[in-house]
Amino acid sequence: MNKSIPVHAPMVQFATRDGQLLLGGFTLNEIADMLGKRVFYAYDQQVVKAQIEKVHAAIPAQIKLHYAIKANPYPALIHTMRNWVEGFDVASQKEMLLALQSGMPAQDISFAGPSKQENELRAAIVAGVTLHVESEREMARALQYGKEIGRKPIIAFRVNPAFELKASGMKMGGGPKQFGIDEEHLLQMLPELNYDDFQFRGFHIFWGSQNLKQDAIIDAHNNTFALAQKLVSATPATTSTINIGGGFGIPYFPGERRLDLAPIGENLTRLLSQYPELAKLELIIELGRYLVAEAGVYACQITDIKESRGQTYLITNGGLHHHLSNSGNFGQVIRKNYPVAIGNKMNDRLQVKQVMAVGPLCTPLDTLADKVHLRDPQEGDWLVVFQSGAYGPTASPQDFLGHPHVSEILL
Ligand SMILES: Cc1ncc(COP(=O)(O)O)c(C=O)c1O
Repeated sequence: MNKSIPVHAPMVQFATRDGQLLLGGFTLNEIADMLGKRVFYAYDQQVVKAQIEKVHAAIPAQIKLHYAIKANPYPALIHTMRNWVEGFDVASQKEMLLALQSGMPAQDISFAGPSKQENELRAAIVAGVTLHVESEREMARALQYGKEIGRKPIIAFRVNPAFELKASGMKMGGGPKQFGIDEEHLLQMLPELNYDDFQFRGFHIFWGSQNLKQDAIIDAHNNTFALAQKLVSATPATTSTINIGGGFGIPYFPGERRLDLAPIGENLTRLLSQYPELAKLELIIELGRYLVAEAGVYACQITDIKESRGQTYLITNGGLHHHLSNSGNFGQVIRKNYPVAIGNKMNDRLQVKQVMAVGPLCTPLDTLADKVHLRDPQEGDWLVVFQSGAYGPTASPQDFLGHPHVSEILL
């Protein structure tokens, strides 16, 4: 039997004109001229907006959508997204200041992370940002700083649930974890706390990331609501907010398909009627990459073409120092190709050639694409890596070997 070769999900989020890929209506050459740079990340804000609208349309209207800034903290993007999402999740003081300066109200900003330092806890308390407290010790420190500052910290507990996200994806809950407080321990803590010392907000139940299986997400939501109900019932104070996590993935690799949000949304609607007490609270979904990854490309130029023992190498001015995750060194076990194309030759009548695309670094890890089929690649052409709007420049070792940092633009 013929086994079909897995292919990438179609990259249809951007328009083309005369074979040229367009972001925000501009060709790659035009973007390069605007930036004065021949290697860059470009983000199309209309694609971000459409993705946010897709989530809003799929989930019940009362569930708020927060953006996890870590996925892409490019300031122009944050300032733009501030008008489209209901809140931001931050993971450092720098991200917190960015979120506040975008005009997002402090009450719609939450601060998570397993090792918040004194400066970060103090900053959040002063600003009125909700701390997602991840340990008893962190709780004690937040209370102490709150007393010193003369302001009650606003606290939600990050829970390490007993359940695990099923199927592939990055698990961030279940079993022993550095994130959050184990559910069974928190259930013991809750009745004992002195709720006069802080402003109690609720719970953050975060179980994973980059999941492409609707059924696994539905299962996690079912478990999340059941756990939230247990936690609310065990708390003598009034709970106002439950953050039910995120986890929606996007297709990076051959064989992966886009998530179908409809059954996830339908299940959330069902859960709201199954848990009327929770349905009255402020409920939040927290997504990073799902909102921004598909809207971004990494574009670099072919600067040389070299044959080596029957293999064609496209040498480019871009590489893993700009885009670590595309090189396969950011959480992948086996390297697979992101979707790539020649961005100035999107016309499918051109001859296809199998090539390796590599960067300028003296390491075989600096691979942009491994044995991919590209249309008539020539020196000066644009190699484009799709699905690059999340975990790009800020998740890459930009100083490695001292090459220039990469530019970014929002169009
Ligand atoms: C607490 C928290 N929120 C949100 C995210 C964002 O995940 P993603 O970009 O996959 O949506 C992460 C990822 O590590 C996280 O730890």
